[in-house]
Amino acid sequence: MSHPLYDGAVEILARNDLGHYTVPTHGLYPFQWNWDSALSALGQSYVNESRAWTEIETLFDHQWPDGMVPHIIFHKEDEGYFPGPSVWGTERPVPTSGISQPAVTGFAVRKLFERAKDLPSARARAKALLPKIQAWHDWFFATRDPEETGLVAIIHPWESGRDNSADWNAALSRVPTEGVGDFQRRDIQHAAAAHRPTTEQYQRYIWLVKHFRAQGWDTAKLHDASPFRVVDPGFNAILLRSCADLAWLAEQLDEPAIGARAKTQSDKGLAAMEHLWSDRHQQYLCYDRAIGAPVDCLTVGGLLPVFTAIAPDRSARIAARLEDLARRTTYMIPSHDPHAPEYDGERYWLGPAWLIVNYMIADGLNRDGHTEIAARIVGDSMKLIVESGFSEYYDPMTGAPCGGPHFTWTAAMVIEFLKQTGGVE
Ligand code: DGY
Repeated sequence: MSHPLYDGAVEILARNDLGHYTVPTHGLYPFQWNWDSALSALGQSYVNESRAWTEIETLFDHQWPDGMVPHIIFHKEDEGYFPGPSVWGTERPVPTSGISQPAVTGFAVRKLFERAKDLPSARARAKALLPKIQAWHDWFFATRDPEETGLVAIIHPWESGRDNSADWNAALSRVPTEGVGDFQRRDIQHAAAAHRPTTEQYQRYIWLVKHFRAQGWDTAKLHDASPFRVVDPGFNAILLRSCADLAWLAEQLDEPAIGARAKTQSDKGLAAMEHLWSDRHQQYLCYDRAIGAPVDCLTVGGLLPVFTAIAPDRSARIAARLEDLARRTTYMIPSHDPHAPEYDGERYWLGPAWLIVNYMIADGLNRDGHTEIAARIVGDSMKLIVESGFSEYYDPMTGAPCGGPHFTWTAAMVIEFLKQTGGVE
């Protein structure tokens, strides 16, 4: 069944496909990114099921011996990106970064498995991935939750995927810039500087990379050694959803030990998530672990928990927050509340709408019966594509395309939405 948007999305997946992995977009992001790959595999699964499994398998081929799955895999050299392998210095056989990214793979693999047409192959491929995903989750809980609270901290804004969110402003201001040296940013040669993080933020991002490198990339040490340690409800929600989906998969695949472990992690994390709830803000807030205080900031990271199985009452309040945002926004979902002082509709995670976030939030809302607001979110997502093409992100008021063009995971989400709404067979 052909549909112009479906055909456009398939074309973008093909354009960015390098055989065994997909770049988010040529130029701006010329390597494999962790959560980009996992989410892109969802759209790809409708186009070429086997290729979708390969995307995730490639990612896990580069898992570190300690269990971490890095946020970037530098499959081949590209001078157009900074910071490249020589800055990271992780000394992996194929160079990678040394930090991770939202663990959405457990969720993605369940989806691939559930919709598989080739069941024997899906069973075998999911079964092989299962212990690797579990090892990654175990690594998160072991190294990023040393006090066993049930929730993990990120140690670099890049790990959150929401790089320049105002959630990190206070914590990042404690990261020094001294000694970081000169460097040339490459991102602003590919995208408008007004859509990207600031150079001061980049200095702090690079300081952290150099600091971790000086610890020999011993990931067991980095949490305590980092001045930046933030518990992000969005990041944790994605991890906990993946734990729950892994438990479900383990049951289908006769892996009871993994199933029990994953379920314990999910249950414990969900109970701990309650500590991040703010009655005053009617949403979840980040928690700055380095100073032991909540972060007073209204971002989409505090709405993302609806992606995982939070209590019905919390889910209803998130739905109400989203309805309020919908009244104040042309295109859902702004990544930062438009009434908040830091809001900037074009600058990366300070306001723009992202289709992957829309997809995850709509998924949770539909599961919990908040179908009207979910439909608004999906409808707005499709309008953005019609009006502004397959961009990285969009101004939630004007709908203007921002960041990089021809974006893989945006295309993948369009395929998902078209399938969900019956737009294509
Ligand atoms: C970038 O380079 O902007 C990425 O988000 C870092 O992973």
